[in-house]
Amino acid sequence: MLSRLPKCLATTSRAAQRRFISTTPQRKSDALFVHRDTTYNNPKVPFEFSPENSKRAQEIIARYPAQYKKAAVIPLLDLGQRQNKGWTSISVMNYVANLLEMPPMRVYEVATFYTMFNREPIGKNFVQVCTTTPCMLRGSTEILNTVCQQLGGIKPGETTKDGKFTVIEVECQGACSNAPMLVVGDDFYEDLTPETTKKVIDAFARGEKPKPGPQSGRHTSENSAGFTALTSKPYGPGEFCSPEFQ
Ligand code: FES
Repeated sequence: MLSRLPKCLATTSRAAQRRFISTTPQRKSDALFVHRDTTYNNPKVPFEFSPENSKRAQEIIARYPAQYKKAAVIPLLDLGQRQNKGWTSISVMNYVANLLEMPPMRVYEVATFYTMFNREPIGKNFVQVCTTTPCMLRGSTEILNTVCQQLGGIKPGETTKDGKFTVIEVECQGACSNAPMLVVGDDFYEDLTPETTKKVIDAFARGEKPKPGPQSGRHTSENSAGFTALTSKPYGPGEFCSPEFQ
């Protein structure tokens, strides 16, 4: 049949029949998206919510209409991650899928999309250093280097040998007015310098919890040069009216 067609049409028809599997360039790393069973992370490792978290999960599920309970997938994964020492294993995902009567793949899609779900174990103190532009312009590269040096020269993405710290770089955490900043656990440490960064990390290394917030003496994100408006008592009504009009 094709041999009776003009040559150009025959070529087009053959091309139309050809199916490409993928034109996406091969990824150098699939760590972010692919689960591979390991001894510590496979579906046979048991996981279930503690009685306290089970109660909390039911409270969360009750916030949504019964037919939309899968809307609770993110808070429940977060709850599972917190119970599972800060990371979301395949067993956590399967447990949440089962609880919300969702296909496990839908839960895997969520857990692999949102970077706040750690799919590998992390250290006791999870240090996230913001290196997005506002923080970078105010010295986040130095802050990141200081953190890594204080922790024995580990690199972003690594965990210290004693399992006490994991360090990663993150995108904007929404505290740009207090840049540069880092996050440890759920707390923000802001207005950092290399010196204050060392103090924060050393305190965690000693098992203490330093006071979160700006480390510069600022209360929040008020002007560090002091007040520039409303510095004195406001004038009263009529103060600037000329006498002939009074
Ligand atoms: S850029 Fe670092 S908090 Fe926004």
